[in-house]
Amino acid sequence: MKFPPIYKDDSADLKLLKKMTIAVIGYGNQARAHVLNLMDSNIQAVVGLRENSPNKGKAESDGCRVCSIEDAIKISDIIALLIPDQEMSAAFTSYIAQYLRKGQYLLFAHGYNIHYGTVNPPEYVNVILAAPSGAGTELRKKYKEGSGIPGVFAVNQDPSGNSKEVLLAYSKAIGLTRIGMVETTFKEETETDLFGEQALLTGGIPKLIQSSYKVLLERKYNPAVAWLVCYYELKTIVDVFHKKGFEYLGKVISDTAEYGGITRGNLLVNESAEKELKAILSEIETGKFHKEWMQETQDGLPHLKSLRDKEALDPLEEIGKYMLEELFGEK
Ligand SMILES: NC(=O)c1ccc[n+]([C@@H]2O[C@H](COP(=O)([O-])OP(=O)(O)OC[C@H]3O[C@@H](n4cnc5c(N)ncnc54)[C@H](OP(=O)(O)O)[C@@H]3O)[C@@H](O)[C@H]2O)c1
Repeated sequence: MKFPPIYKDDSADLKLLKKMTIAVIGYGNQARAHVLNLMDSNIQAVVGLRENSPNKGKAESDGCRVCSIEDAIKISDIIALLIPDQEMSAAFTSYIAQYLRKGQYLLFAHGYNIHYGTVNPPEYVNVILAAPSGAGTELRKKYKEGSGIPGVFAVNQDPSGNSKEVLLAYSKAIGLTRIGMVETTFKEETETDLFGEQALLTGGIPKLIQSSYKVLLERKYNPAVAWLVCYYELKTIVDVFHKKGFEYLGKVISDTAEYGGITRGNLLVNESAEKELKAILSEIETGKFHKEWMQETQDGLPHLKSLRDKEALDPLEEIGKYMLEELFGEK
């Protein structure tokens, strides 16, 4: 198989951004990391916030120049739209689209709204994506350590003809090319990102942890012992295979763990699990999940709110709070 190139610092030129101003809209998880990393890379950046934003004071005390969204767009060359995906369509139509000028770059950290057609920028604007493979807090932390996190990038509209170069320069300024980036499309980034969340990161793995704990609890095992096995030890195992792969994991665990893991893992995750994974992916690809999520946000998140209440009652939460406080003093 031929693997794609990885873009590192030497494929990007920060000089491209030296005469530019970057507007970062929002001051949440991603936005704070982007703007602080840009500023530390000596790139001119402003934060655009809506009136009465509760984050204005925080941005100012972090040393950021804060202005209205309208002013931020007017004075900038690149506009990084870093607000929640479900807010983006309405925000774009109400107070972003009318201020966009020819040749500006509209940058996203997730392809969702462009891919599903809920944000439609004019054709005279460049539309680009720099998606870090991780949370903003991690992006900022790693940058400050002189490192970064990997990510993906994509160009969707390129009337200026240099969007890829500008995008790589932006990615360098926030620390993504220090580790490496992969080129993708808005479609691929959106669909794989949603699939990764649902199948593993915020879906499959947490659900498997909760179910495993529940099974041990029902058979009257000590809850603290069950928590250590089902919840706490996961990080140790992930840390082992994360940098060196599953073959290496097999070498450092006991033969019993390796044999039991592969044979019983195959029983659990088999063709029927794969069928479900394919069904999850199909709902993303066909837009079924998107329609459901848009309806849910329009209705004021009734299902999400009731699911959150239910999750808070999951037996793992109670033991988790107790153990984290007793072991690590976490509140
Ligand atoms: N979170 C992650 O780990 C992560 C990882 C990769 C990519 N991304 C992507 O990064 C983007 C931003 O996500 P996020 O999690 O960083 O968002 P977030 O933390 O929830 O964003 C909060 C910020 O958005 C502003 N905001 C909310 N609704 C707004 C509206 N209608 N108009 C204007 N501003 C509004 C808030 O304004 P106020 O200050 O006024 O409250 C606040 O400053 C998304 O596209 C997401 O998919 C996120």
